[in-house]
Amino acid sequence: MVAFPKLILCLATLAVSVASTSLRTSPRVTRGFRRSVARGWSLHRRADPDTVLPLKFTLVQSNLENLDSYLLDIADPHSPNYGNHWSYAKVAETFRPSKESVDTVHSWLVDDLGIDSHKVQINGNGDTVQLNITVAEAENILGAEYYIYRAGEGGDERIGCHEGYSLPEHVSKHVDFVWPTIHLGRPSLNRRDGFVSSTPGAGQAAPGPRIKKAVEKSKLPLLGCDEAVTLDCLRDLYNFHYTPVSGKKNSVAVAEFEEEIFQQSDLNLFFETYEPSLVDFEPKVVSIENGTVAPPGDFGEATLDIELVMGLLGPKQNVTVYQVGDVEQPIDALLAAFDASYCNIDPVNEQGLTDCGNKPRSNVVSISYHFEPDFIDPGITPIVQRGCREFGKLSLTGITWVASSGDGGVAYSQAEECLVDGELEFFPDEGSFVGQFPASCPYVTAVGATSVAPGKSANDPEIATTAFPSGGGFSNNFPLPKWQEVVVKNYVENFANKSYGPDIYNRSGRAYPDVSTNGFPTVIAEGGGFVLTGGTSASAPIFASFVAAINDARLARGKRPVGWINPALYSFSSHVYNDVTNGTNPGCGTDGFSAAPGWDPITGLGTPNFPKLLQAFLELR
Ligand SMILES: *[C@@H]1O[C@H](CO)[C@@H](O)[C@H](O)[C@H]1NC(C)=O
Ligand SMILES: *[C@@H]1O[C@H](CO)[C@@H](O)[C@H](O)[C@H]1NC(C)=O
Ligand SMILES: *[C@@H]1O[C@H](CO)[C@@H](O)[C@H](O)[C@H]1NC(C)=O
Ligand SMILES: *[C@@H]1O[C@H](CO)[C@@H](O)[C@H](O)[C@H]1NC(C)=O
Ligand SMILES: *[C@@H]1O[C@H](CO)[C@@H](O)[C@H](O)[C@H]1NC(C)=O
Ligand SMILES: *[C@@H]1O[C@H](CO)[C@@H](O)[C@H](O)[C@H]1NC(C)=O
Repeated sequence: MVAFPKLILCLATLAVSVASTSLRTSPRVTRGFRRSVARGWSLHRRADPDTVLPLKFTLVQSNLENLDSYLLDIADPHSPNYGNHWSYAKVAETFRPSKESVDTVHSWLVDDLGIDSHKVQINGNGDTVQLNITVAEAENILGAEYYIYRAGEGGDERIGCHEGYSLPEHVSKHVDFVWPTIHLGRPSLNRRDGFVSSTPGAGQAAPGPRIKKAVEKSKLPLLGCDEAVTLDCLRDLYNFHYTPVSGKKNSVAVAEFEEEIFQQSDLNLFFETYEPSLVDFEPKVVSIENGTVAPPGDFGEATLDIELVMGLLGPKQNVTVYQVGDVEQPIDALLAAFDASYCNIDPVNEQGLTDCGNKPRSNVVSISYHFEPDFIDPGITPIVQRGCREFGKLSLTGITWVASSGDGGVAYSQAEECLVDGELEFFPDEGSFVGQFPASCPYVTAVGATSVAPGKSANDPEIATTAFPSGGGFSNNFPLPKWQEVVVKNYVENFANKSYGPDIYNRSGRAYPDVSTNGFPTVIAEGGGFVLTGGTSASAPIFASFVAAINDARLARGKRPVGWINPALYSFSSHVYNDVTNGTNPGCGTDGFSAAPGWDPITGLGTPNFPKLLQAFLELR
């Protein structure tokens, strides 16, 4: 199906007649050149010049250069304003594009190019300027060539211009995106950071360690925490014995995407065995863009996330599930559900989003998925930059975002993609390390995975996972923040493998994960039976549960939730963590990084020593 079939109408001659009197002589800026078409798409044909495009100019937001200082003002533990989160209205007002941006783009289209002003729509809050124009007109004003792209044989079709476009300089500085241009959207990939198996619960081994193994319930009590990680193992490992007291004042959520769903019968089976007080307790499902828990779907991720968070926090804390429907960029749908302005500026969701700022926010949101590889690319960089800033903006309201660091070691995703000659390759023998978004975003707390060593117990030091390489490394899109600079430089100078040059990993990038928790082999009930599973997919919701407990204790003392925690995590004394010093995270034909004393790019600062971490956060304002 072509992207906009209903819009193909024949407009008369080109409306773009340059009104020479008002034409400004501003040099043109080339934007978004890309050597090849977006991955998963092939060039099909030139676009029909008469096809009508709904062209959207997304304007640059105001005050973004101050986002870090606004955030540090409320999240730096030394700030007198620590915990003074903003209202959502203040966030929306502060970052709204300026009137100058709206006027410049409008005046260019109407006065300089002579487009009928009735055709040019300024969207709601002045976030975007939209108009319907033909491909021929769009090519003319954008200096671009439009093509139709196809996903696979006879698959989905999209329109765009992969070779980029240009704008006059005085307009370009006010425009973040023009859509559709280089963004066509990507075909769905397997994006969750857990174990995938074609036959859930059947114990069939997929290649490599990525298995979900069925286990008989009767055997579980005989297994140690190195063989089967139960809620009690987690409580013992991190000294987590906490009963929430703040009730409705507190909130915590897991976000589920694609077809990842749960069934209450699995939750009950798990709770009967491990937390009987929770039997028949249901998580609160908040559907975003028609997300549903109805079959068909895969039970692996949602079940893991929900059983862990509900299990660890018990019946005194309600847990929300944000169930995001099948949209092109599901992470944008999640963000837009809390920030109406992001609906307008979302550059890539073709049909437009319908859930805009109408869903309840939660103090903590756990995300065990990854959405984009983190490398410099004209198609990817603007998307991850914009998404990351949105995480930051919403953090101003007091949300803590927790994300899995990935299961591909220093490579991207379970397909272990690395950069070879500027392109991503699956399972290459060599290449540059590739990070993943959102873990690489500095406003997100990234969590790596550890295990109890073979034959050891919950009382022994954990090691980085060996069943799969825990994700970690350095971003190319986000610079190294001040709050982690000392510990990261310590690692790079004293412990990193000296044979990795600057072409292998980016020493000046945001480094992750920030912390870690156990991620293998996690016991859950899924598909009617028990399985051993895991991944950093398990680590993120475990850590998110601890943050929720910290918020609960702070609320009970009349304090605010912790919100963006990264600056605080790096400011605490190392005794709030259990340092993890054994393990590697191989990928791209290397052993990856090695765990080391202090922060390292496999296990971060270490696993939490919960009572001490709680105490450190209680001492803050
Ligand atoms: C473009 O056309 C579509 C379909 O006719 C219409 O719904 C939309 O409002 C139009 N947009 C603008 C900016 O005129
Ligand atoms: C959980 O939600 C239910 C239903 O809204 C409510 O009755 C109950 O009081 C809540 N429990 C807590 C601990 O907030
Ligand atoms: C969601 O459901 C509503 C009503 O059932 C429908 O109008 C809308 O098109 C759906 N949206 C998506 C994204 O499927
Ligand atoms: C790391 O842990 C493994 C598994 O317990 C053990 O065999 C190995 O000796 C440890 N390495 C170091 C350097 O302690
Ligand atoms: C390394 O990271 C910095 C900071 O984010 C960025 O400016 C630079 O382009 C990155 N280098 C590469 C090769 O991607
Ligand atoms: C450093 O990396 C190289 C290349 O992967 C490897 O051959 C070497 O053994 C590593 N050195 C150490 C000390 O791990």
